[in-house]
Amino acid sequence: MQKNNRKGQSLDSVKTTDEFVEETTGEFDEKKIGVGIDFGTVNLLVYVEGQGIIFDEPSVVAYDRASGELIAAGFDADEMTGKTHDKIKIVRPLRDGVISNIKAAKDLLKYVFSRVNIHASNTEIRAVLCCPSEVTQIERKALLQLPVQLGINEVYIEEEIKSGLVGSGVDIYTDRGTMVVDIGGGSTDVGILNLGDVVLSKSLRMAGNFIDHEVVKYCKQHLKIEVGQKTAERIKIELGTVNLKKDVATMRVAGRDLLTGLPRHTEITSRNVTEILIPVFNDIKNLIIATLKDTPPELCSDIYYDGILLNGGVSLIDYAAEYFSEELGLKVRVSSNPLTSVVLGTKVLLKTRGHFLKDADTE
Ligand SMILES: Nc1ncnc2c1ncn2[C@@H]1O[C@H](COP(=O)(O)OP(=O)(O)OP(=O)(O)O)[C@@H](O)[C@H]1O
Ligand SMILES: [Mg+2]
Repeated sequence: MQKNNRKGQSLDSVKTTDEFVEETTGEFDEKKIGVGIDFGTVNLLVYVEGQGIIFDEPSVVAYDRASGELIAAGFDADEMTGKTHDKIKIVRPLRDGVISNIKAAKDLLKYVFSRVNIHASNTEIRAVLCCPSEVTQIERKALLQLPVQLGINEVYIEEEIKSGLVGSGVDIYTDRGTMVVDIGGGSTDVGILNLGDVVLSKSLRMAGNFIDHEVVKYCKQHLKIEVGQKTAERIKIELGTVNLKKDVATMRVAGRDLLTGLPRHTEITSRNVTEILIPVFNDIKNLIIATLKDTPPELCSDIYYDGILLNGGVSLIDYAAEYFSEELGLKVRVSSNPLTSVVLGTKVLLKTRGHFLKDADTE
């Protein structure tokens, strides 16, 4: 890979993913089909070379309890969340960014691959699987087992912050330091990259799901109503803002009255949600500060000029970039595609062979 010295490039002047692909297409076995997998705690995205993003649905499966058979996956299984009877078991394969149920993870991937049928033509597959930066060796091994068990023997794992930056159109193969903060469903990952690799990263197992739980707790404690996880997520997305000066919005939510046990509705305001969000955003800000404190001064200087990129679904919270910018006194912007950038990055990383984090130990 040719090193491209880019002096003073701001994160505003970025390239499109396609431009990178053109630049980085190397000479290697083109017969294999590249598959990129962003197995997130909340969403699973799969990219197949030549086909684009062929799957973008919740990371959820539903089983028949008696037979153990898979009865739904993705959107269909997610719709059942919180509404199933005893005969159906809903399983989320990942918790806090890492696989907690390997069988469910495998079943979900099998389901995805059966839909695209890429095995049919006997085509060999090269897969890149994105993972959080702070996975342990054991967690990494569990991740690697997945594609291998599906018959894919060329597997690479890559850090999702790196793939997310590439998928956001940032040229990471330069000698300038770049900072990314990915606030996903299960974890927040902060990283500094330079010359195509992660120089340093820190992670917090606190992100979108944690906020949803805090919304449920808040409704119980302050509004005396019990709401489901899906309702809590809707409240977060529709009312969530970290702008203390914004006009107050309200939303009607229904659930179970904690005193009577009967269904009822109540109103929740955007101020209530801001109250829930600020402590979480404050913890993320402290993680960014802790990362910057460990960053070599030369790279700090680059970050001062170029700013920070926010990625992951929670970066879509209203005023997220402005909040961090005001708190840190740095330029901050949100990726143009915070929910798909990680998998879009694999499109490039599949081509830049040799620049993966680590080759798979598929023994
Ligand atoms: N518009 C929005 N506003 C606020 N939050 C949102 C919005 N859209 C999605 N989210 C939240 O973003 C989270 C999912 O983000 P993402 O898909 O980046 O996570 P993930 O990759 O599955 O998780 P992780 O990387 O932590 O394993 C969910 O908690 C979801 O509720
Ligand atoms: Mg993610």
